[in-house]
Amino acid sequence: MKPTIKIISTLILFASLTASASDETSDDKPAATSPDNSHGIAYPSGWQNWSTIAVSHRTDNNTIRTILGNDIAVKAARAGKTNPWPDGAILGKVVWKDTELKDWKAATAPGKFVHAEFMFKDSKKYADTYNWGWARWVGLEQKPFQKGMQICTSCHTPVKNRDWVFTDPALLPHVSY
Ligand code: HEC
Repeated sequence: MKPTIKIISTLILFASLTASASDETSDDKPAATSPDNSHGIAYPSGWQNWSTIAVSHRTDNNTIRTILGNDIAVKAARAGKTNPWPDGAILGKVVWKDTELKDWKAATAPGKFVHAEFMFKDSKKYADTYNWGWARWVGLEQKPFQKGMQICTSCHTPVKNRDWVFTDPALLPHVSY
């Protein structure tokens, strides 16, 4: 009787050890549950589920991007009401390093995650920065960028007449459903 109990308890111990070992060897570096603010702006939780407004590819630094929006932004984009964008709109841009599809080398696909950055439209709160709040979170760990909104706005100046936004919403067929 005794040896049987010992074998069973050894098996249980082994099982729990292997379970915790596999947790620790996971490659994911999950972001903190709530990343710190960037430029005083709170993390826009749930952006991973927002809809796509456009995509882009930069050949100067070999990155691929998707431009996303919250509900207010997507509605405005689909209706063509983007100059100005309405208050409450949040535009996101998610950037990955280029990689190629293993089974079709000519296809460029998203590889290493670079960062996610956002423009928050609020003409009262962000009147000093052209009616947008500018924030970025870097890497899969989503480290907040704190080098100043001026870095963002200076590069977006060429599109100040388009409400500071480069992106044209991608064309989509209008199909009723
Ligand atoms: C080196 C110039 C440069 C800097 C710096 C820069 N951007 Fe941009 N940004 C662009 C360009 C060009 C695009 C459009 C092309 C693309 O998809 O990358 C863009 C697009 C965006 C978009 C999608 C909406 C749009 O305008 O098309 C967001 C959101 C955005 N940037 C946020 C930021 C934030 C926040 C910062 C600062 C943390 C920042 N950007 C800094 C050049 C810049």
